[in-house]
Amino acid sequence: MATKQLIAGNWKMNGGLAANQALLEALLAGIGQPGCDVAVCPPAAYLAQVQGLLAGQEAIALGAQDVSQHDNGAFTGDVSATMLRDFGVRYAIVGHSERRQHQGETDVHVAIKVKRALAAGITPIVCVGETLREREEGMTEFIVKRQLSAVIHLNGHCISEIVVAYEPVWAIGTGKTATPGEAQQVHAVLRAQLKAATEHAERVRILYGGSMNAANAAELLAQPDIDGGLIGGAALKAPDFLKIVGAAA
Ligand code: PGA
Repeated sequence: MATKQLIAGNWKMNGGLAANQALLEALLAGIGQPGCDVAVCPPAAYLAQVQGLLAGQEAIALGAQDVSQHDNGAFTGDVSATMLRDFGVRYAIVGHSERRQHQGETDVHVAIKVKRALAAGITPIVCVGETLREREEGMTEFIVKRQLSAVIHLNGHCISEIVVAYEPVWAIGTGKTATPGEAQQVHAVLRAQLKAATEHAERVRILYGGSMNAANAAELLAQPDIDGGLIGGAALKAPDFLKIVGAAA
């Protein structure tokens, strides 16, 4: 198991100035000195606001939900890794299944984004995961290995600097969680794949994501190869998110 677990909140396209402030004030009031690393990933439009609200404390780090595959130039709407860095961003979610599905991101795009993030000193949280159909067809291992292997291939020895998030697509926002055993099985596959690529595979954190909540977090986080969580819905409610952080600590 990696040294310190990581609990990251993926706010997705939710929130607003007032709601963000209320959520962060409640998180900061309740978090104390967490025994794990914690991050929140607001929409890009609110990075500056959230950076301001997180200033002067160490408990919660700032993350982004995406990063451009380009360095700079004529890419309307994109936000580059160096721009994210300007706002104190420490983590960037890359290749979330919602972006793979709705924005047509391929394994190659994801691998390039990881490279951009690493070059800017941002830790990419690389998402992999199978759809329900792929699971039913017995393709889970094949799919997650294919997704991770593109990232390993392009990023070589830097691969020990990434965070991986196993997020079965059928578990995201559905209330259906992988059982701790099902999740651990896939995490072990990913760990073995990382071991073949780097001698530092044990230190790579492999998060679980997909309907992780205050009630099921402890059991998932107790699995030997689950090193944290990427939390969607439950990250929008301070008491729930804090309970998950407590379960990791
Ligand atoms: P969920 O989302 O916790 O709402 O299932 C997780 C994610 O998509 O990162």
